[in-house]
Amino acid sequence: MKNLILGIESSCDDTSVGITQGQQVLANVTANQDIHAQYGGVVPELASRAHQQNIIPVVDAALKKAKITPKDLSAIAFTSGPGLLGSLLVGTSFAKSMAMALNIPLIEVNHMQAHILAHFAEHPNQNTPPFPFLCLTVSGGHTQIVRVNSHFDYTLIGQTIDDAAGEAFDKAAKIMGLPYPGGPLIDKYAQQGNPQAFNFAKPKVDELDFSFSGLKTSILYFLQKQVKTNPLFVEENLNDLCASIQNTIISILFTKLEKAARQQNIQHVAIAGGVSANSLLRNELKKREKSLGWTSYIPPFEYCTDNGAMIALSGCFKYLDKQFCDLSVQAQARKPI
Ligand code: KG4
Ligand code: ZN
Repeated sequence: MKNLILGIESSCDDTSVGITQGQQVLANVTANQDIHAQYGGVVPELASRAHQQNIIPVVDAALKKAKITPKDLSAIAFTSGPGLLGSLLVGTSFAKSMAMALNIPLIEVNHMQAHILAHFAEHPNQNTPPFPFLCLTVSGGHTQIVRVNSHFDYTLIGQTIDDAAGEAFDKAAKIMGLPYPGGPLIDKYAQQGNPQAFNFAKPKVDELDFSFSGLKTSILYFLQKQVKTNPLFVEENLNDLCASIQNTIISILFTKLEKAARQQNIQHVAIAGGVSANSLLRNELKKREKSLGWTSYIPPFEYCTDNGAMIALSGCFKYLDKQFCDLSVQAQARKPI
C-alpha cells in the first residue's frame, strides 16, 4: 500500500497542508494569517475568509513540494475539530470535495490527537515515544494532560478549567502591549530577563486540572498599579516581566505534569502543541531526565504549532486501520479527545 496522505489543517488561523508517505513527511506548507495581529487575537470571521483564500494555493504548493500529483494520493485527511467552526468548515468542505473528485477515502482527524501524533513523524535524531506515555498538550485553545495508550486510544487525565496556557502567554503579552501571538515574544524577551524578578501567585486547583485566568488578572492589576507611579514601567522591565511570567506559567504546568507522572507511574513524557515551542518548557522537560528519570519527547519546531503534517500523519495511521468517514461527516467546534 503506498499510503500517501494529504492532510488539511484549518482549525484556527493557520491554513496548513501536509503530505506524508507512511510516517515520512514529504511536504508541510503553512499560510499564516497576519491580519489578526492588529486585533490582538484571532477574529473568527476574518480567519475563515482567509482560509478560503489560502486553501487552494497551499494545497497546490504542498503537492509541488512533495513532487506528486493529486492522482498519486491514497486518501484525504482533515481536521474535523475542535476549533473555530467557520475555520473548520473551510477545510472540511475542501477535503470532502477533493476526496470525492479523486474518488479516494476521506479521513477525519481530531486536532488534539494530531498534536500528539506529530511525535511519530520520521525525523533525524528523534525517538518516538513508546505506549503508554503521557503528553502535555499546550496550545492557544487547550491545555491537557493525556495518557496515550495507542495511536487511537487517549485518556484525558487533566485539563484547564478556564484559559489555556497559550492564551495565558498571549493575554499577558497583550496587557504589556505586545502584538498577537505574544507567546513567542515573551519567550524571546525572557531570554534576557530575571525569572525571579516578580512574583505572581499560582492557582490552587484540584487534582490534575489547571487554571490560568487568575494569573492574567494578577498581571493586569500589578501592572496597572506600577504604571500609575511609573508610566514607563513595562518598557523598562520588559525582559524581567517576560521571564517572570514565563517562569510562573511553566512551573504551574510542571507541578501538574509531575503529579500525573507519579500517579500514572509513567516516565515517558512528551509535550505537544504551540506552547511546546517554548524554550523554558523544553529545557525544563529535558532537566527532568536527570532529576526524575524521565525520558522526554519534544517535537521538532515545525510540528509544534498547527501544521498539516500532523493531520496527514494521523491520517496515515487511520488509513492503515481503514478508519474512513463518509461525506455526512460534520465539523465540530467542540470535540473531546
Ligand atoms: O497549537 P497552536 O499553534 O494553535 C492552537 O491550536 O491554539 O498554538 C498556538 C499558541 C499561541 O498561544 C502561541 O502564543 C503559543 O502557542 N506559542 C508559544 C510559543 N510559540 C507559540 N508560547 C510560548 N512560547 C513560545 N515559544
Ligand atoms: Zn493546535
